Amino acid sequence: MARLLLVSNRLPVTVKVEHGEVHVTRSAGGLATGMKGPHERSGGLWLGYPGDVSRLPPEQRAALEARLEDLRYVPLHLSPGEVSRFYEGFSNGVLWPLFHYLLDQVPIGERDWESYRRVNERFADLVAAHHREGDLIWVHDYQLMLVPGLLRKKIPNARIGFFLHIPFPSAEVFRILPWRTQLLEGLLGADLLGFHTLSYLRHFASSLLHVLGIEANVDRVFTEGREVRLGAFPMGIDAAALSTLAGSPEVDAEAQTFRQPGQRILLGIDRLDYTKGIPRRLLAVERLLEREPSLRGKVRLVQVTVPSRTNVEAYQGFRSRVDELVGRINGAYATVHSVPIHSMYRSFNERQLAALYRAADVMLVTPLRDGMNLVAKEFVASRTDDDGVLVLSEFAGAASELADALLVNPYDIGGVAATLKRALTMPQGERRQRMQNLRQRVLENDVHGWAQSFLSTLEEQSEASSGRSLGATTPAALESLTSDLRKAPRLTLLLDYDGTLVRFARAPDDAAPDPDLRHLLTALARRPGTRVHVVSGRTRDVLERWLGDLPIALAAEHGFWTRDASAREWRPRTDIPSDWNAKFLPLLRQFVARTPGTLLEEKSASLTFHYRMADPEFGVLQAKELRLHLGDLLKNTPVEILPGEKIVEIRPMGAGSSALVTSLLEGASSGTRLVALGDDLLDEEMFAALPPPHIAMHVGPRPSRAPYRLSGPMAARTFLQAIAED
Ligand code: UDP
Ligand code: G6P
Repeated sequence: MARLLLVSNRLPVTVKVEHGEVHVTRSAGGLATGMKGPHERSGGLWLGYPGDVSRLPPEQRAALEARLEDLRYVPLHLSPGEVSRFYEGFSNGVLWPLFHYLLDQVPIGERDWESYRRVNERFADLVAAHHREGDLIWVHDYQLMLVPGLLRKKIPNARIGFFLHIPFPSAEVFRILPWRTQLLEGLLGADLLGFHTLSYLRHFASSLLHVLGIEANVDRVFTEGREVRLGAFPMGIDAAALSTLAGSPEVDAEAQTFRQPGQRILLGIDRLDYTKGIPRRLLAVERLLEREPSLRGKVRLVQVTVPSRTNVEAYQGFRSRVDELVGRINGAYATVHSVPIHSMYRSFNERQLAALYRAADVMLVTPLRDGMNLVAKEFVASRTDDDGVLVLSEFAGAASELADALLVNPYDIGGVAATLKRALTMPQGERRQRMQNLRQRVLENDVHGWAQSFLSTLEEQSEASSGRSLGATTPAALESLTSDLRKAPRLTLLLDYDGTLVRFARAPDDAAPDPDLRHLLTALARRPGTRVHVVSGRTRDVLERWLGDLPIALAAEHGFWTRDASAREWRPRTDIPSDWNAKFLPLLRQFVARTPGTLLEEKSASLTFHYRMADPEFGVLQAKELRLHLGDLLKNTPVEILPGEKIVEIRPMGAGSSALVTSLLEGASSGTRLVALGDDLLDEEMFAALPPPHIAMHVGPRPSRAPYRLSGPMAARTFLQAIAED
């Protein structure tokens, strides 16, 4: 197996220096606890932040670095400014609340973005410094969303996976971020992007469409000449190890000491984070005690809150809010013998946690929003006695897997209180059945299977993309092609217009040629032995209006109409009955009327349904629907339906550009080289009709049969300029 480079903001251990003493403790949180097993098994490196060690004297620091090295951890030290801006400010002040839909927590202000970008660059530099050919790089979580893109620039053929441990929010929410474009582009540097659930994956795909206009093909996206795979990989835990620990006699004995006769234990274990729904959970317990006097003194909530992000503003007032609530409820319902809420603010080791899980009657996992929530799975894995009830928020990723939990809406306090009562009174048979089902799920889908499945998909994907070589043609190859073409005695250039010579505009009429393009086309046409044909799907009128005064040949409607450089009149390739479109024109008009932002271009030998200006999602949907309807309607008729760049084109068979290419090839004198440039699916037929030594060049990120590729219209113009300038 390839060597694995794990990259996360936080290492699984955190170093603290107190009174000159070094303490190395395990880091809290799902990422650190979950990835520990895969790291130990892989024999690779883990790169991340080890905590603040700036106050350590040099010899102690060296000793620490040696200790980290033994564990195969590579530290990336953050300065206090970076901790405050990159970590506290942007990652946890902006991205964390926004990705959890808690918009009122997102501060307005731009100062921390720059630090986020720079620290991501530092991470990418460190990874690149350790990277060896053949390694698999696995980047984790929202703190490092730019790293895949930065790495892709540094090591174009690196194998890069990225996993997001928190939810990906709906596109409506994600779009709020002023840096949405950079973040999406950063992620798209990976070969594989993993999410906990299918709905996060869908939100991501919909954000790509809304923000970048990129349409995902179910679980694949084409960008910058590469294919990026998307996948849902629900993260698991080290279930067998925890099960063994929790079933041990020591843990069993410790669990016994937590129980009190005649008293039921409700349990909550969370980082002290406002996403975890702790205040509402406390209110639900209060509501239960209010409604059920008989339970008073008989039920106790043991709530462990682990200190987290204590310097982030939103977390600071939060602790006192929780403490106040605990105080209020305890004040009202405590008896001489018991308190209803038993709150502890510190972290626990694995054995103590296992004992707590074992002792609980009901586990309360009620986050307002949570990427997955591993605590829920840890509770299940610990219940070797097949007992205990899991109450789980429907807004935790785990809810999509753990159907045998009692699912609740954490905002509905009365509903949670009622579910608590149900959990406390659930018959043993039902508890057992539910827990057995839950255990089967958690034990069968553990963290090792999860890592294995992510990494094998990554390997498969990176092999597939390298085989497909969708990268832009290298500058050296391009230079040698250019000098080759310059030497050809005669050159015929076939240039598609939209997406090849100019960028796509929102409305077709907005893509008129700029003066630079007109100069470029004129210069090419004046070059000795060179002929220029602009081959477009547009109408004769538009081409005539925009380019008719230039010394170039024009081909409208994909070559159905042609006009020589010297002649002024247009010639059709064949005769087409004037009613060729009568059967489906009304249907197209209906679709345009029903889909705001779409328009129909009616041409003599084709009809084009444009949906670039429609709502991105609705546009794509309607285009698919339209193709289905047309497919039915046009079965066995000599008409073809072609999907293009945000268009659907319908035309008589054989009206495409390949016929034009064939006639140019036939008429060409010896020594002529034909060079075709195009960006669209519709240009593929032009490429298909062009045998070597003629040249087909694809412009843009999509897969293409063309052996040469330019990244976009600007690169296409630079290439043509180089030919014009010799
Ligand atoms: N945890 C911990 N120390 C504690 C309490 C909990 O390390 O004192 C661990 C817990 O076992 C779990 C993780 O922290 O593995 C919490 O992960 P989860 O996915 O539930 O939430 P996150 O903290 O990642 O938001
Ligand atoms: C969540 C995040 C992790 C993070 C952890 C602890 O699990 O997904 O990326 O490491 O919380 O938070 P902290 O800010 O202490 O690293």
